[in-house]
Amino acid sequence: MPITTQQLIRFKQEGRAIAALTVWDYALAQILDEAGVDLLLVGDSLGMAILGYDTTLPVTLDEMIHHAKAVRRGTRRALLVADLPFMTYQESVEQAFHSAGRLLKEAGVQAVKLEGGHPTAITTVARLVEAGIPVMGHVGLTPQSVHQLGYRQQGGSQEAGEKILSQAIALEQAGVFAIVLEHIPSDLACQITQKLMIPTIGIGAGPHCDGQVLVTSDVLGLSNRQPPFAKVYANLREAIAQAVGEYTAEVRARSFPDQPPF
Ligand code: KIV
Repeated sequence: MPITTQQLIRFKQEGRAIAALTVWDYALAQILDEAGVDLLLVGDSLGMAILGYDTTLPVTLDEMIHHAKAVRRGTRRALLVADLPFMTYQESVEQAFHSAGRLLKEAGVQAVKLEGGHPTAITTVARLVEAGIPVMGHVGLTPQSVHQLGYRQQGGSQEAGEKILSQAIALEQAGVFAIVLEHIPSDLACQITQKLMIPTIGIGAGPHCDGQVLVTSDVLGLSNRQPPFAKVYANLREAIAQAVGEYTAEVRARSFPDQPPF
């Protein structure tokens, strides 16, 4: 049975941890979905991990839709969420409707994620939710604000921590079904998780969140620039280099392909 936004909230009530990963194409979506990941995020981190940009800022809505369509075709069970890229929702609520609408209609995602918990973001979330578009929040380190925040941990001081907590509460009140907590202290993430009815999905936010998300290219050892909180579960960069090295050597030695039997 496909996972729904309501089911994620039930997972929190039941104390069942939510496993989420980012995804960018059909083949990977099939593998992650069949492996039992609960939530697949077509994150704008694909700009850095897959498209080779220096930040997530250049990612366009068309690029997100292109990747999300491929992911949709490979996903059967997981809840599919896509990021609204930088400057595709900040200008006005109308712009956010247009962008989120395209992701739902053209790519078939079930929900969108947007960054920030400031009053304008809250208004946008409330209007999208009111119109029936499920929204996931994202506070703490928000990579689209890299030129203001850098990639440093957020919420370290009492004042900064209280601000993130109040943003998370405001996002819940505006109707988000879940919220990403990125690179904040573990005790702050714990406090937010206890305060909210909706699930928190942590990345670099410690073990007390209701679920965890990582960027899949980090998990698989494909990327050469990982954040300090990422965990590498496989070294595919090395495995691919070895496989391609063997292939290249066999082609040059004319030992591949074999002589056909006839
Ligand atoms: O774009 C992304 O991959 C994200 C995750 C860091 C949650 O937003």
